[in-house]
Amino acid sequence: MMKIETCAIHAGRRIDPATGAVTPPIHLSTTFERNPDGEYPLGFSYSRENNPNRASLETCLAAIEGGTEALVFSSGLAVATALVQGLEPGDHVIAPDDVYWGLRKVIGAVFGKWGLATSYVDMTQPDEVRAAIRTETRLIWTETPSNPLMKVTDLAAIADMARRSGGRIVTICDGTFATPVLQHPLDLGIDMVTHSTTKYLSGHSDVVGGALITRHPNYLFERARTSQHYGGAVPSPFDCWLSMRGIDTLPYRVRAHSENAMLLARFLASHADVETVHYPGLECHPGHAIAARQMSAFGGMLSFQVRGGKEAAMGVAARCRLFIRATSLGGAHSLIEHRASVEGPQTRTPQNLLRLSVGLEHPDDLIEDLSRALAG
Ligand SMILES: Cc1ncc(COP(=O)(O)O)c(C=O)c1O
Repeated sequence: MMKIETCAIHAGRRIDPATGAVTPPIHLSTTFERNPDGEYPLGFSYSRENNPNRASLETCLAAIEGGTEALVFSSGLAVATALVQGLEPGDHVIAPDDVYWGLRKVIGAVFGKWGLATSYVDMTQPDEVRAAIRTETRLIWTETPSNPLMKVTDLAAIADMARRSGGRIVTICDGTFATPVLQHPLDLGIDMVTHSTTKYLSGHSDVVGGALITRHPNYLFERARTSQHYGGAVPSPFDCWLSMRGIDTLPYRVRAHSENAMLLARFLASHADVETVHYPGLECHPGHAIAARQMSAFGGMLSFQVRGGKEAAMGVAARCRLFIRATSLGGAHSLIEHRASVEGPQTRTPQNLLRLSVGLEHPDDLIEDLSRALAG
């Protein structure tokens, strides 16, 4: 099997047969010609249903994630919406208590009238997950490492639990923080993986997108496809093209993000004004052993709690010069965020927590920036 560095560059690409172009063209046409017999010989009819740039990105994502098929959407949350839409009223979902806050909004606000039952559990405790399973449970949603507390879920244990429940439960992993470079949930028995491609996959903070990749055909994947065809949450050809361009360098970027994050985590862990560092690469992190087993490195995201509460944390963010105060993650530039402010009054995130998306700048410069900001 090809290695990910090779796959990231070659899967889903081909030399353009019309021009010999090496870099793929962007197909803006919304409509495609039928044969005289009424068929679409090249497989494309109308761009809401499919498009050459989208098809290339889907082929590439299925290859790098090790799945059989992929669908790409107009955002990460559009994937979540399509999946939840595939559930029936009365179905039960199990999700992490610290799940990306947008998923709670999709389930609670968008599908509030749908009659879904949801249990938010501590996904790091397999016994808690097992205890939450009911006969109506149809979906176990995992996210590892999680946003923003960097909790680690034992994916093989969750997959095994779902298998033992008679095959009626579909498992999914939001792998946005880990990317297919560091973690392969499908190899651990998870049914589907989702990514906000807005983040590391596209990698330059210039595309909003989402992906769903499956290990095998299943009804929720098919319903997500139908939801997209009829509901229309499709990415533009240009966005797909930009994501493909980002994926070319994904393995090298993610490795550098991870190396920088590890250095920053160690620096912060030894700093007197830092209460706690959440980074699964640190041996003291409660999920370190599992992360070391199921990830090849620990990624570019970390969070830390500042001594002195919210004001102290806001002060550190305010004094940063290189770290940009902005949400999102996975771009070349380093970002710092007071997460609780973004998540609003119902947040479960500690008020003294700052989340870092560690970028590709030189780590010495990043450490100097944080050091000055922490000094006050
Ligand atoms: C872990 C995770 N999942 C999903 C999403 C949602 O993705 P999008 O913003 O592309 O809709 C995000 C966005 O921040 C995220 O961090």
